[in-house]
Amino acid sequence: MANLFEQLLARETVFRDRNYITPHYTPDKLLFREQQIQKMTEILAGLLNGKRADNLFIYGKVGTGKTASARHVLSHLLDFAGQKNAQVSGTYVNCRNHNSKYRVLSKIVKDFYPEHNFMGYSAAFIYEKLLGFAGEGRGIVLVLDEVDKVKDVDELIYGLSRANDELRKGSLCILGISNNVMFKDDLDPRTKSSLCQQEMVFPAYNAEELKSILSERAKLAFNEGCVDEAAVSLAAAFAAQESGDARKAVMLLMRAGELADKKGLARVSEEEVRRAKRLVEEEIILNMVLTLPQQEQLVLYAIAGLTLERPPLKTLTGETEEGVLYSGEVYDTYVKIAKKFKETVVSSRWYRECISQLEMYGLILTTQSGKGVKGQTRFIKLGYDAKKIKEAIEKGLTA
Ligand SMILES: Nc1ncnc2c1ncn2[C@@H]1O[C@H](COP(=O)(O)OP(=O)(O)O)[C@@H](O)[C@H]1O
Ligand SMILES: [Mg+2]
Repeated sequence: MANLFEQLLARETVFRDRNYITPHYTPDKLLFREQQIQKMTEILAGLLNGKRADNLFIYGKVGTGKTASARHVLSHLLDFAGQKNAQVSGTYVNCRNHNSKYRVLSKIVKDFYPEHNFMGYSAAFIYEKLLGFAGEGRGIVLVLDEVDKVKDVDELIYGLSRANDELRKGSLCILGISNNVMFKDDLDPRTKSSLCQQEMVFPAYNAEELKSILSERAKLAFNEGCVDEAAVSLAAAFAAQESGDARKAVMLLMRAGELADKKGLARVSEEEVRRAKRLVEEEIILNMVLTLPQQEQLVLYAIAGLTLERPPLKTLTGETEEGVLYSGEVYDTYVKIAKKFKETVVSSRWYRECISQLEMYGLILTTQSGKGVKGQTRFIKLGYDAKKIKEAIEKGLTA
């Protein structure tokens, strides 16, 4: 009998190298971002001559190439500084994984002093360490990706920008990135003016741009003739329709390729892209749920739990509607759950804001009842499959 591995590897596949069509892969050339990359380069260039660089804030929807562009520019900067022996250092922090001032600072100094262990040191000590590193005359770039995820972001930015006033030699430049287009308006005015010395919006890609991006990736990732052009166009169109999200486009084509392999097909056609759409949308939503702040997750968890228990509701007009909840009962359930998880319970005012946030993300829909005897009530309805959302949050909470 043939060897198991030989069999597996000999199996027909549409992929030449699947890695190129995963969202983790960053291409060397980023199409349609020349302008943004140019501007970033101009802002940072002064560092190479020992000058200070303005802080820069980049924002735009998910999948518009912010992370890829910033990493691209940072790596070019550091390469060139290395060649020229310029005193420039920089590091990239994904604040989703380092979501407090302390964690961000720890991550940064660990990158600059890889041989040291800063576990358990105070924030003040770590901050001084960073100042010391810059103070030796270095121009430092800190890319803080998804900076809106930092709980005490005002303190972080304030602390880092104050550093420049204290330094006689060397400097810090913050390059903050956010997927949340509203984020900068929530910042303390002082933080906002220092973080946003320069700012840049990344626009969503249109279908045509996404098609070019995908075609480039498909050439690397798939065997010749294994992807229909119509499949690429459809993936681009789906991704453009909602948000112009390149990550979604890439994931659609990747999952479509996997489906083709599973079915033993020689080519990826529109049909696989259509089927991949459901899978990918689910992945994106569950991923979004898991990156919500804990309290919002608990509120969503309460909504999902109640939706599963609840028989369809009769509305005043006699129609029945499924999974419609009263805002008040959701709050009561949330309070019980928060206590169970020993989380602090938030006020009802905050709860209303949280509901608005969840609605903005498209995770729930709300409607206001007409003015009645009891005043106005808000109805809440979950936007996605309750069981899947509940399971995802449970997994995250116990992880
Ligand atoms: N202009 C582009 N050309 C090629 N690939 C791109 C481009 N923009 C984004 N991508 C790819 O799309 C995915 C999402 O991009 P990313 O930079 O992570 O977006 P954001 O940080 O804005 O959410 C990544 O896999 C990235 O490589
Ligand atoms: Mg990003």
